[in-house]
Amino acid sequence: MSLSIVILAAGQGKRMNSDLPKVLQPLAGRPLLGHVLDCAHRLAPSSTYVVYGHGGEQVRAAFPDASIQWVLQAEQKGTGHALLQAIPAIPDDDLVLVLYGDVPLIHSDTLTQLIAQAGTRSLALLSVILSNPVGYGRVLRDNAHHVYRIVEQKEATRKEQGVQECNTGVMVAPAGALKRWLSGIKNNNTQEEYYLTDIVAVAVRDGFTVHALVAPTEAEVLGVNDKRQLAALESAYRQSQATALMSAGVTIIDPTRIDVRGEVSVGRDVTLDVNVVLEGQVQLGHRVIVGAGCLLKNVTIGDDTVLRPYSVLEQATVGAHCVVGPYARLRPGTTLADHAHVGNFVEIKNSTLGAGSKANHLSYVGDATVGQDVNIGAGTITCNYDGANKWPTTIEDGAFIGSGTMLVAPITVGKNATIAAGSTITQSTPPDQLTVERSEQKSLSHWRRPTKATEEVRAARIAKGGPVTKKKPSDA
Ligand code: UD1
Ligand code: CA
Repeated sequence: MSLSIVILAAGQGKRMNSDLPKVLQPLAGRPLLGHVLDCAHRLAPSSTYVVYGHGGEQVRAAFPDASIQWVLQAEQKGTGHALLQAIPAIPDDDLVLVLYGDVPLIHSDTLTQLIAQAGTRSLALLSVILSNPVGYGRVLRDNAHHVYRIVEQKEATRKEQGVQECNTGVMVAPAGALKRWLSGIKNNNTQEEYYLTDIVAVAVRDGFTVHALVAPTEAEVLGVNDKRQLAALESAYRQSQATALMSAGVTIIDPTRIDVRGEVSVGRDVTLDVNVVLEGQVQLGHRVIVGAGCLLKNVTIGDDTVLRPYSVLEQATVGAHCVVGPYARLRPGTTLADHAHVGNFVEIKNSTLGAGSKANHLSYVGDATVGQDVNIGAGTITCNYDGANKWPTTIEDGAFIGSGTMLVAPITVGKNATIAAGSTITQSTPPDQLTVERSEQKSLSHWRRPTKATEEVRAARIAKGGPVTKKKPSDA
């Protein structure tokens, strides 16, 4: 039987108190629905439907993937009504897996097990044992332990409320049967909603076997209704990511203080200090050390490189044996070759630093191509922007740029050239020579330090906006 997946995501999420639709709230930097869609994708279904409603176009626009079939549920009349919107499009002999857009940490392995328990004459649902089941639908079993019904919290008797096995909402059944069952359910309950859960009792009456698979972990079936639950799931996610990295051999100084918001691949003996945030696609080579408070987004770091604390790297490629930071910023388009050093308060954007080159202190390098073994002195700035255009800078191999140099682009500093400290360089410089651009140094022997001005002189000077020339006796 081929598989169709229906993700219910039309709910409003009032308790979020947010202008952002619930399924777009971010978990680990990605919308809740994105996590569910990724999981669905891993099951390789023949089609995936998303039932949407609240936040309509905004939700659709967030997922431009053409393979998603969007189904509008204009009015939210309950989970049964939501599934009813999608079901007519699904062939009768498909198995339908129902997922929730606000249950983001569900595992594809668990779902594979669940799908295996459903068939032409059986319905499979995922349950969970909760110590505090309040708010959930309860899975009711008879003396032979067979599931015969789900009862919602609001409809449950006191005795039924004592049941701890809860419905997660995730279920699998054949499309043909679902069509039959759904057309029969009513909304004569306290919430005047069409409950999807009502189909369980109908299935039993129809002679179907109902299997309830108890979810292996609680976190994977928890739903998000408010910001507190969102934070709790973020923490569960953080924990699982840290555990996975440690299993791969990473030393994590404190697993409660690391955030992985993407896909990380690691070499051997990587060390991550506290408060490191890894986002997007991050590749760390062997023996990489990431210092406290570093933020890495879409970066590749070569073997034996050290990122010192509080460095921020985005869309950068760093070679092997490099040293970056503390407090360095590598912006998109930065490439550091092996053995490059980038020190504190250095910002690099859209530039390449050749092997062994160094920019150790307080510099801005933008739109530059820097060769090998170049030394960029403290306070050097590539003046790449003239207010309207960005211009490139080229610094050839072995050049030495003195401290406090302004390189006004477009410009090329020749191979092995030396630029004297404090120069403002506006023309390309020849190789091997010293280029100096400075006004001549003077010392004034008759200069005197200012003395404390009288109130009268002060007032006159402020009014005039310059030094008050003393009246010569002849002017009197
Ligand atoms: C539902 C289940 C309950 C289960 C719980 C698990 C029903 C009737 N109850 O309750 O047994 O224990 O989930 O979290 O199914 N949605 C729509 N359209 C609607 C209503 C809901 O798309 O008209 C979507 C929501 O966006 C959400 C999901 O369905 O993703 C669940 O809806 P929600 O209102 O949260 O159901 P619960 O009352 O929590
Ligand atoms: Ca819910």
